[in-house]
Amino acid sequence: MTLLRVEDLHTHFISRDLDNQIRVARALNGVSFALEPGRILGLVGETGAGKSLTATSIMGLLRPPARVVGGRALFEGRDLLAMPEAEVNALRGRDISLVVQSPKSSLDPLTRIGDQLIRIHRAHRKASEKAARERAVEMLASLGIPDPARRMAAWPHELSGGMAQRVLIALALMNAPRLLIADEPTTGLDVTVQAQILDLLRDLVRRTGIGAMIITHDLGVVAHYCDEMAVMYAGAIVESGPVRQVFANPSHPYTANLIGATPERLRLGGPRTVGGPPPNLFRLPEGCAYRDRCPQAGADCATPPPDVALGAGHVARCHRVAA
Ligand SMILES: Nc1ncnc2c1ncn2[C@@H]1O[C@H](COP(=O)(O)OP(=O)(O)OP(=O)(O)O)[C@@H](O)[C@H]1O
Ligand SMILES: [Mg+2]
Repeated sequence: MTLLRVEDLHTHFISRDLDNQIRVARALNGVSFALEPGRILGLVGETGAGKSLTATSIMGLLRPPARVVGGRALFEGRDLLAMPEAEVNALRGRDISLVVQSPKSSLDPLTRIGDQLIRIHRAHRKASEKAARERAVEMLASLGIPDPARRMAAWPHELSGGMAQRVLIALALMNAPRLLIADEPTTGLDVTVQAQILDLLRDLVRRTGIGAMIITHDLGVVAHYCDEMAVMYAGAIVESGPVRQVFANPSHPYTANLIGATPERLRLGGPRTVGGPPPNLFRLPEGCAYRDRCPQAGADCATPPPDVALGAGHVARCHRVAA
């Protein structure tokens, strides 16, 4: 069964301006994708595209003024967005884990890391203090943390960025989730540590068959570590498919721009920035949201673009793409 199937997810920020008029920012506009067990999906797109919001919407972690206003998020066939709060809470942190974008701020500064690991385990799984401690030490060791038994006593502020990130991943994995969502899990870390962490994640996915979604700016990470990818623009997926297919034949003009023409460019500079201002979520145009920045835009782009199937699960949402 598909592990996670997100269907036509819409999330809005609903607020009032100074004149007391209601303002709606359409931050997610029909996000759809699927993740199978044992696979890694990379979610990419420029800053503000809605990647983190996709994760928090699925996990039921939105705060006002953000609200899911439509769509479904099926975890093993059950809609997380329609489930009673208590059930989602039971799944979250146990069967579904999220590694959030800012590691330092999500560790409890007043609790030693060992105690945080033990606590999350015992909150969701029946385990003795001793068994939980053993599991925590094993988990730290498996994430390449040296001298893990001693590290259990460390305070969050004593950790380097790389260590804090690993502890966060350890926390996410303590309860052996079936779905892991990691939001920029290695951004800001040096390349060696980044590779170490992502290698571990990939091994874990291959070994245990969990499904992982990695949110990243870094197309190199997608190329090296992901099986599938989804490219996000203005709160929608504009192109998705197996990583090889998308890299070999980037079909949406936005994807083509992100990836650039040559593999050399990718190695040298990572993703290019796209020219022009990002879209205004309060006033998204009818039709294709990318058309103001798109070199190939024409009159037909004022109508909603179709999802064009390009074979092997590769899909691009664009008027210019021919099947
Ligand atoms: N209170 C708000 N009102 C209106 N729009 C908001 C509000 N808070 C956030 N947004 C918008 O929601 C959008 C989604 O942001 P999100 O954090 O998901 O982007 P992201 O793709 O994760 O970016 P990054 O790569 O920088 O992490 C952004 O464009 C942001 O401007
Ligand atoms: Mg983000």
